[in-house]
Amino acid sequence: MRSVDVLLKELTLEEKISLLAGQGLWNTKAIERLGIPSIMITDGPIGVRKQTGGQDNVGLQKSVNSTCFPAGTTVACSWDPELLYEMGQALGDEAQGQDVGVLLGPAMNIKRTPLCGRNFEYLSEDPYLTGHLAAAYVKGVQSRGVATSLKHFAANNQECRRRSVNAVIDERTLREIYLAGFEIAVKESDPATVMSSYNRVNGVYASENGYLLNDILRKEWGFQGLVVSDWDATNDHALGLKNGLDLRMPCLSGKDARDMMAAYKTGTITEEEIDTAVRRNLVLIKNAVENHRETPMAFEDHHALVRKLAGESMVLLKNSNHLLPLSRSAKVAIIGDMAQNLRYQGGGSSHVEPYKCDDLLKEIRMLAPNADIRYAKGYSLERDDREDALFEEALDAARTAEIAVVFAGLPERYESEGYDREHMDIPPVQNALISAVAGVNPNTVVVLANGAAVTMPWIDQVSAVLESYLGGEAVGGAIADILFGQVNPSGKLAETFPADLRQTPAYLNYPGYQDRCEYREGIFVGYRYYATKGLRPLFPFGHGLSYTTFAYSDIRIDKTAICEDETAVVSLSVRNTGSVAGKEVVQLYVHDDQSQIPRPEIELRHFTKIQLEPGESKTVQFTLSFRDFAYFDTDSMRFAVEPGSFTIFVGPSSADLPLQVSLTVTARQKIRKTYTKYSTFGDIMADEEAWPKMRALAMKDPFYNMVFSGNFQNVDPAKLLAYNLLKELGDTDTIGEAALEQLLTEINP
Ligand code: BGC
Repeated sequence: MRSVDVLLKELTLEEKISLLAGQGLWNTKAIERLGIPSIMITDGPIGVRKQTGGQDNVGLQKSVNSTCFPAGTTVACSWDPELLYEMGQALGDEAQGQDVGVLLGPAMNIKRTPLCGRNFEYLSEDPYLTGHLAAAYVKGVQSRGVATSLKHFAANNQECRRRSVNAVIDERTLREIYLAGFEIAVKESDPATVMSSYNRVNGVYASENGYLLNDILRKEWGFQGLVVSDWDATNDHALGLKNGLDLRMPCLSGKDARDMMAAYKTGTITEEEIDTAVRRNLVLIKNAVENHRETPMAFEDHHALVRKLAGESMVLLKNSNHLLPLSRSAKVAIIGDMAQNLRYQGGGSSHVEPYKCDDLLKEIRMLAPNADIRYAKGYSLERDDREDALFEEALDAARTAEIAVVFAGLPERYESEGYDREHMDIPPVQNALISAVAGVNPNTVVVLANGAAVTMPWIDQVSAVLESYLGGEAVGGAIADILFGQVNPSGKLAETFPADLRQTPAYLNYPGYQDRCEYREGIFVGYRYYATKGLRPLFPFGHGLSYTTFAYSDIRIDKTAICEDETAVVSLSVRNTGSVAGKEVVQLYVHDDQSQIPRPEIELRHFTKIQLEPGESKTVQFTLSFRDFAYFDTDSMRFAVEPGSFTIFVGPSSADLPLQVSLTVTARQKIRKTYTKYSTFGDIMADEEAWPKMRALAMKDPFYNMVFSGNFQNVDPAKLLAYNLLKELGDTDTIGEAALEQLLTEINP
């Protein structure tokens, strides 16, 4: 392919416009006359969904076989960017093998409510974890010469009315929660494309949102790549182009092409704007062509990788009396339709045709040939109600076994792209079965398969719970590995499991009224909410057990005070105090000790996963810097640090933080507030530069002189006058308006 500059000169206007949309459902437009080929763009994120026959973008029709990797919700629980990188490499290779130039992933919207039908694709409720895992995925895929797409930019946090809903989000929440993950991934991994979402953000469709696409994504974060629309997520393509959209997918209708030309002729869009977008398209195509390499499909290796990923990601939620791992000669009842029909992926555009799927019972028999295994179906996946014969057969199996393992979770129809869940429950028959089994066998284990948090009304009746999520095509082997101790679980929840839907932060403001959804819980999303309110969820963010135990000790910090542009290093020690090797995710959260603005009790700022042999200790270090202490200041429209002391907490979960250390941070540049005559005395009293000036002026008036210099037993004058307005000084004959104006000019920036 010739150089982009040469091609830009030779393309006609019509050809340029045609390049701004796809060709068919999955390709870019070819211009044969100039040797510009068409490249293929497919889903993503957990396998290569290349359709060669019937085509659709909601996962209804067949695609070629490709490895089905664990869903985003699952791999996020590995808390291991290196694994995401490895998964990305394998996906990149399969995309190359299928001649796919752009893989549509990672999906990385924040899990605002557990009900979002697409939570199974998304990574976390926390933007820091989301951003770093997404960046690792992008780097992995792109290391193989295949482009990625961060999706869905932005605030696509519900499927309900996804194409019309207006996500109304205040600026600070937008920046700290809904954009921060994208910001990290853009800055860290240089993704080739970003996909604009279906919804509106603060009144403007994401594909036409110049504030998001041009001002923030490109100008502030320095994104160099191409913005592609979600499929059909353009309403006014010309307006999109003007506001930073480069490629509309899929293809354009004749009318759209005519509308674009008309917009050009009337001057709504300029040739320069068209050229900018065409250039980005040509760069994407040229890179795909030049980076293409014949790659064999390493299905067997990738199947093994899926098993590893799933094993490192599943979360052991409960394990009373160390019931797990099971002995390899135990007498075990395996119960539940879901044991035979394992759920390993979600529905919609991410749905892939797996290369092959594990059979759980076979895997168990292979791993534990001396175990005495009896299987009973218990319930039918397609039914929510009880079938007596199946139920009784399952109880009989449970009664006669040493251990009963019930496989339960969400049937496929319960969660998918395109619609949200209506509640957090698994089917009633499964809940009833688990309770009944636990009633006849005290050693009951539940293995859950679901894409998002569920309720567990039976939690106190069972001994152990393993959350397998949606583990990809080798999930059967991975579950067997964990049940029988071949793999020591090390996953930690990347989302909170609430006790009840009514406990969730967005409960009162989701899904909104008709097409308007106000994110009124603000920055208090996920554990930020539970920790700040002191609520106990069913399982907290960051929680996950192991077959061994870890002890945290010796936290140190190399400085007790830093200026905001300096760094401080926190170190601590973690020891494996059990008898088997294991991995631990060490989590660091920051707490602002005194703040003028509302801040969450804790915010995740660092994490690392370490492997420890029995008895082994390791020192873990984290380097803290500016953003770890910052919040988004809407006056100055930048991240800023409020000077003062912060507590750094470290531990194994957001609700278990045994270590802490303090650090004082001073600001390099003061966050300057603009005062008016309607500012309060209190705000100025809190400003160490402005307050002495105001005080000096106030002392000219006998009343304020008396209040500010007096010593009163019964009242604190500072508190008494805190809500008085500055204008009151101007209203006095002793001070007057001119002096007040003078004060304002002195204290304002
Ligand atoms: C989804 C995207 C997907 C696209 C193409 C849309 O329905 O929202 O995530 O990449 O279809 O299949």
